Amino acid sequence: MERALSGIKPTGKLTLGNYIGALKNFKDYQENYETFIFIADLHALTLPIDPIELRNNTKDIVAFYLASGLDPEKTTIFLQSDVPAHAELNAIIQNYLYMGELSRMTQFKDKSRKMNDSAIGLGLFAYPVLMTADILLYNADVVPVGEDQTQHVELARDFVHRFNTRYGKELFKMPKAITPKVGARIMSLSEPTRKMSKSDPKGDIFLKDDMIIIRKKIMSAVTDLGSDVIYDPENKPGISNLLTIYAALSDITIKEAEEIFKDCHRYGDFKKAVTDKVIEVLEPFQKKYKEILESGIIDKVLEDGARKASYTANKLLTKVKKTVGLYVHK
Ligand code: TYM
Repeated sequence: MERALSGIKPTGKLTLGNYIGALKNFKDYQENYETFIFIADLHALTLPIDPIELRNNTKDIVAFYLASGLDPEKTTIFLQSDVPAHAELNAIIQNYLYMGELSRMTQFKDKSRKMNDSAIGLGLFAYPVLMTADILLYNADVVPVGEDQTQHVELARDFVHRFNTRYGKELFKMPKAITPKVGARIMSLSEPTRKMSKSDPKGDIFLKDDMIIIRKKIMSAVTDLGSDVIYDPENKPGISNLLTIYAALSDITIKEAEEIFKDCHRYGDFKKAVTDKVIEVLEPFQKKYKEILESGIIDKVLEDGARKASYTANKLLTKVKKTVGLYVHK
């Protein structure tokens, strides 16, 4: 059976972008793949974060995973920091990735742009090395992510090619990023040429937002000139983004969404329809999330997940150690 692996970093509040680009798609894999979904908590330390916030965000993500339909009987749900093999593989493979290629990573450039050089942590720079380790430890065939993570998966692919060639064997599987057909890059509602992101709350819809706030945010989303509801990201970024959100949450194509609104010539009416759709999805999702948090099952899920993930990860780690010449005694 092929394997699918993905993760979400517990920084900030999860957005509708995280939901559409990643979270909502994970459950589709658990039927046909051996699926590993984790909380990338070590990655959350790459920028300063309050310890209490980090712990709360971590629990939230587990609850979000379960609320989205991930079943711990089918999917291994685990914490990255519960499986030391991630840090160990990271320590080995960092020697095969280069400063030049890491400094070309868009996400690093974006995140470090506004920072003083002396304040940029090494972990932020080396972020894609740990992400490569995350993916390769489980021999993942597919990595379902939003568009902003595809460059990191490309780097993991370059590494696999380099390492396998150097040691003359197919030790690591070649992973492939899979992005959703609709909604791989959800944009900010207030600035639709910018990605919706956890670290920049203006124009974001958060998964825990109250329905009244969600309604307000969508109804005041920036739109474009004209009154036709058509998909044209270049000239109509605001409307195109709302159409994408509507289509993704309805599980239809953008074309089908355009067809639904072809006779709608009032942006206000269109926004109302988008709001209703978002609420139709998020209201029951929030209810499940709350029930899960109250049920107290989080620790048990993580404990089981850590055991299963460690078993798989340690097998691969031992092979890597032997391959590079580390002495593995009996
Ligand atoms: P993170 O936590 O930033 O984002 C989690 C997932 O949400 C997607 N995403 C979006 N999709 C569409 N539109 C948006 N506006 C949007 N914003 C975020 C991201 O692409 C991602 O899929 N590096 C990862 C976590 C990670 C990981 C891994 C993922 C660590 N190791 C190994 C896969 C495999 C991250 O920070 O995602």
